Amino acid sequence: MLHKNPAQSMIALFALWFCMASATQAETAAPKLANVTILATGGTIAGSGASSTTTVGYTAATVGVQRLIAAVPELAKVANVSGEQVFQIASENMTNEHWLTLAKRVNVLLAQSNVDGIVITHGTDTLEETAYFLNLVVKSRKPVVVVGAMRPSTAISADGPINLYNSVLLAASPEAVGKGVLVAMNDQIQSARDVTKVNTSTLDSFRTPELGLLGYIQGSKPFFYRQQMRKHTSETEFDISALQVLPQVDIVYGYANVGPVAVDAFMAAGAKGIIHAGVGDGSLANKVKPALVAAHAKGAVVVRASRVGQGILARNGEANDDELDFVVADTLNAQKARILLMLALTKTTSTKEIQRMFYTY
Ligand code: DGL
Repeated sequence: MLHKNPAQSMIALFALWFCMASATQAETAAPKLANVTILATGGTIAGSGASSTTTVGYTAATVGVQRLIAAVPELAKVANVSGEQVFQIASENMTNEHWLTLAKRVNVLLAQSNVDGIVITHGTDTLEETAYFLNLVVKSRKPVVVVGAMRPSTAISADGPINLYNSVLLAASPEAVGKGVLVAMNDQIQSARDVTKVNTSTLDSFRTPELGLLGYIQGSKPFFYRQQMRKHTSETEFDISALQVLPQVDIVYGYANVGPVAVDAFMAAGAKGIIHAGVGDGSLANKVKPALVAAHAKGAVVVRASRVGQGILARNGEANDDELDFVVADTLNAQKARILLMLALTKTTSTKEIQRMFYTY
């Protein structure tokens, strides 16, 4: 770099200093943004209605991921965003096969050093189920945030854009690392394990009624006040990387005058597990109990859950689970108990081992 001519040496040294100063200034001026991939699956957040006042009776899953991203230019201020259209469906049509495809894609992306977090846009009807499935199979501590909307993108005060913005900034935030799969809607941060949809249509439909939300997003910042105590993501014992199919597990609903027909029908259809969403603390009606005992005798694993929604399903409370060799769902609702039992059955049929899993995740 040094020249024989002193003047040229001075110019070369000044040019070197200027380049180094500029580089330093650039680094201090604009912090590097995290790389967040948005995986779009459909739902209302990608929905459209006939008019701006259509908040019910619209069509879900019509707007593509690039248009969702283009509709929120502010995303570029909080992350380097890329998008993939994994599916384009209303989430009532989500299947086990969709979950396996999505989870495998998430794990491939998160294993890449150039991906710092993932946002999944999703219909709200089964959002809590997809979020919990991912909570049990994602093999990374990097943030995964599942987001939906209660109003279509064409509606007045659509909630999708702000929900998407909040979800991307959450997925880009160091605070979200290691917190498990999160659901970010209505300015709230919820845990995939405990969040549930409690209203058919209002903006605050996603709640964690008794165990509580994890925090808030306010002023483009996440604020955590608690964290999930049960194992998730990188701590999971479940591996879906080689799975093409999940074991069939079905749910029978408890109510006054219920009979054995549903249990018998699911068993005839090949169920390997039955979730009994019983009344109260998972009570077994006299007309259903023999069918569940017979199902277990044929090899199905029976899990007692509750239709109530909150509280611990007590082992040996409303039934002698030790004697019946049944499993209890702890605080998981029936639709989430189904997910954990499906994954448990990919590893074991031991009810002792499966009960441990229900007390672990
Ligand atoms: N069909 C419902 C779904 O895709 C619409 C509800 C929503 O996404 O908010 O889940």
